Amino acid sequence: MFPLIPLLCLLLLPFSAPTAAADSVYSTFLHCFQSNSNSSAGVSSIVFARENASYTSVLRAYIRNARFNTSSAPKPVIIVTPLTESHVQSAVICSKKLGIQLKIRSGGHDYEGVSYISDVEFIILDMSNLRTVTVDVADQSAWVGAGATLGEVYYRIWEKSKVLGYPAGVCPTVGVGGHISGGGYGNMLRKYGLAVDHVLDARIVDVKGRILDSKSMGEDLFWAIKGGGGASFGVVLAYKIRLVPVPETVTIFRVERTIEQNAADLVVRWQEVAPTTDENLFMRLLLQPVSSKIKKGTRTIRASVVALFLGKSEELVSLLKKELPELGLQKENCTEMSWIDSVLWWGNFDIGTSPEALLDRNVDSAGFLRRKSDYVQKPISRDGLNWLYKKMIEIGKTGLVFNPYGGKMSEISSTATPFPHRAGNLYKIQYSVNWNEPGPEADQEFVKQIRRLYSFMTPFVSKNPRQSFLNYRDLDIGINNNDKNSFEDGKVYGFKYFGENFERLVKVKTAVDPENFFWNEQSIPTHSRKLDFGGTMKSAEKIEILLTINELYQLADLQGCILGRLLGQFAAYGHLGC
Ligand SMILES: Cc1cc2nc3c(=O)[nH]c(=O)nc-3n(C[C@H](O)[C@H](O)[C@H](O)COP(=O)(O)OP(=O)(O)OC[C@H]3O[C@@H](n4cnc5c(N)ncnc54)[C@H](O)[C@@H]3O)c2cc1C
Ligand SMILES: *[C@@H]1O[C@H](CO)[C@@H](O)[C@H](O)[C@H]1NC(C)=O
Ligand SMILES: *[C@@H]1O[C@H](CO)[C@@H](O)[C@H](O)[C@H]1NC(C)=O
Ligand SMILES: *[C@@H]1O[C@H](CO)[C@@H](O)[C@H](O)[C@H]1NC(C)=O
Ligand SMILES: *[C@@H]1O[C@H](CO)[C@@H](O)[C@H](O)[C@H]1NC(C)=O
Repeated sequence: MFPLIPLLCLLLLPFSAPTAAADSVYSTFLHCFQSNSNSSAGVSSIVFARENASYTSVLRAYIRNARFNTSSAPKPVIIVTPLTESHVQSAVICSKKLGIQLKIRSGGHDYEGVSYISDVEFIILDMSNLRTVTVDVADQSAWVGAGATLGEVYYRIWEKSKVLGYPAGVCPTVGVGGHISGGGYGNMLRKYGLAVDHVLDARIVDVKGRILDSKSMGEDLFWAIKGGGGASFGVVLAYKIRLVPVPETVTIFRVERTIEQNAADLVVRWQEVAPTTDENLFMRLLLQPVSSKIKKGTRTIRASVVALFLGKSEELVSLLKKELPELGLQKENCTEMSWIDSVLWWGNFDIGTSPEALLDRNVDSAGFLRRKSDYVQKPISRDGLNWLYKKMIEIGKTGLVFNPYGGKMSEISSTATPFPHRAGNLYKIQYSVNWNEPGPEADQEFVKQIRRLYSFMTPFVSKNPRQSFLNYRDLDIGINNNDKNSFEDGKVYGFKYFGENFERLVKVKTAVDPENFFWNEQSIPTHSRKLDFGGTMKSAEKIEILLTINELYQLADLQGCILGRLLGQFAAYGHLGC
C-alpha cells in the first residue's frame, strides 16, 4: 500500500517540483499533527523537514554506524521527536493518513540502520525524548521509556539500590525500544535469561493510534513485543521491568592467549565448560586475527575470555582451576567491584570511571560496522577450529564472539517469548567486523569478508533453518518488499529469527495490523491468503561464489561427509550439511 501520494497534495500541486512537494508533505503533516495533538502549541518545533536547520543534527544524533552516516544514504522526509505520548499517537495517525512509511527509532543501534533508512519514502519517529526511568525499589520494578538508554536504566537502578540490576545488553548507549522488543541479552543471561524474561507490562501505540497496556492489548500482542521486534506491531512507549538481585561484590576478568600460547586447547575446553558451568558465571570468548608478537611478521588468532561472575574472586578462581585449568586463572587476574562498576567496565570505560558516564548519550561518532549471527549446538571439533583459525587469518579482519548459553536460558520454554533459541544451544556467535576507512570500496571489502567467514561456518552451526538473532540485524538473510510476496519472503528470515514462533507472530500481526502499516525490511508479514507454513523452508544461503571448490572439499573432509553427496547438495542448494 506504500507509498500512497496524498490525494490532497496531488490536487493542490499537480505540477510541483520535488521541494515544493516536500514542502507540502511537511505542511500537510504538520496540520494533521496539530489538529490531532491535545497540546498543539509548539508542535512545529518537534517536526523537522529537510530544510530545517537542525534536521541533520537530529538525524545524526542516533546514527550508530558510520556506514549510514553518508550524504548518499536515503533520508526521511520528516523527523518527529515526540515529547508526549499523545505526540506519538498523532505521528502514527498522520503518517498513516499521508500514506508515508513510519520508521521508529529509539537508540538507533540497529546494525543495518533499519530504524532510520529505507528505500521507500519515510518519516522517522524518534523516541529519544521519551526516556523517563522510574524505579520502585520496594516493588523491585521500574517503568522505562522506550527512548531511555540501557546506561540510563542501570544508572537509575543503581541510584536507588546497590543490590538490584537488570539483565540486558552491555553497551550503555543501546536504546530500550529496539533492544527489549528484540529480545535483548547481556552478561547475566545464564543466571536470569533475557531482558524480555523480566518484562511485566508495556505501553504501546497501536495502528489506530490507541494507547494500550498489557491488559488492553491482550496476551498475544504482549507476547509478540517481547522479542518479536516492536516495530512490526506498533510503537512501544515504555516497558515495566522486573529488577533482579545482584551481589554487592562481583568479579570480572579478561584473559588473552594466542594460538602460540595454546589458545586452541582453551577454546576446545571453553565450549564444554562455558555453557554448563555455574550460572553465576558468564564467560564470553572472542577470537580475533592479530599480529603475532612471538613470530614477527606473521599473524595468529587471539582468544580472549571476558567474564562476569556474580560472586567473589576466590570462589571463581577455585571453580575455574577445577573446570577450566587451560585458562590458568589466578586471583591477580580478577578484579572485584560493585555491579555498576562492572557495567562500566563491560562498556569499555576504565576502572574507576564515575557511573555518571552511563548517562552520556552524545556520542556523535561511530565506526563502520557489520554483524551476523549463528547458533552452535554441537561443539566444533579441534580440527574444525584449527581450520577455522587458518581461514580467519586468511580472510583478514572479521572476528567471532562466542556468547555461552545454558543455565536459565535452558530452563525457559522456547515458546515463552518469540525468542526461540533456548535449550539445545551451546552458544551464539556474533560475527564482527569494524573498519575506519570510508567509502564503498572498504564497505564492499569488509562485507565480503564477513560473508565469507559465515560461509565457512556453515557445517558447524544450526541448520534447517540456520538460526539468527533478531537484535543482530542482518539483511543478508532475507528481506521483504511489502508486495504480494511479502509473506513468502518473510518466512525466510522469519523462521531463522523466530523458529516455530514465527507462525504465532504472523497471526498476531494479521490480527493487529492487517494493512501492514508497521512494515519494515524484516518485519513480520501478515498472512498470505493461502495459509501455508508447511513444507520446506527456503533457508539455504548461496555460498558457491564465496568459497572455492577446494575449500568446499576441505569442509567436507572436516565433516566426514561423502563428497559426492555433499557436492550434489551444493549444486542444488548451496547447502553445507551432511
Ligand atoms: C554497540 C552495540 C552494542 C550492542 N550490544 C548488544 C547486547 O549486548 N545485547 C543485545 O541483545 N544486543 C546488542 N546490540 C544490538 C541491539 O540490541 C539492537 O541493535 C537493538 O535493536 C537496538 O535498539 P535501539 O533502540 O538502540 O535501536 P533502533 O535502531 O532505534 O531500533 C532497532 C529496531 O527496533 C525498532 N524500534 C526501536 N524503537 C522502537 C519502539 N519504541 N517501538 C517499536 N519498535 C522500535 C526499530 O524500528 C528497529 O527495527 C548492540 C548493538 C550495538 C550497535
Ligand atoms: C521548520 O521550518 C518551518 C518552516 O520554516 C518552521 O515553521 C518550523 O518551526 C521549523 N521546525 C523546526 C523544528 O525547526
Ligand atoms: C493529553 O493526552 C495525554 C495522554 O496522551 C494526557 O495525559 C493529557 O492529560 C492530555 N492533555 C490534555 C490537555 O488533554
Ligand atoms: C594472570 O596473573 C598472573 C600472575 O600474576 C600473571 O603472570 C599473568 O600474566 C596474568 N594473566 C593475565 C592475562 O593478566
Ligand atoms: C557523521 O558524520 C559527521 C560529519 O561527517 C561527523 O561529524 C559525525 O561524527 C558522524 N557521526 C557518526 C555516528 O559517524
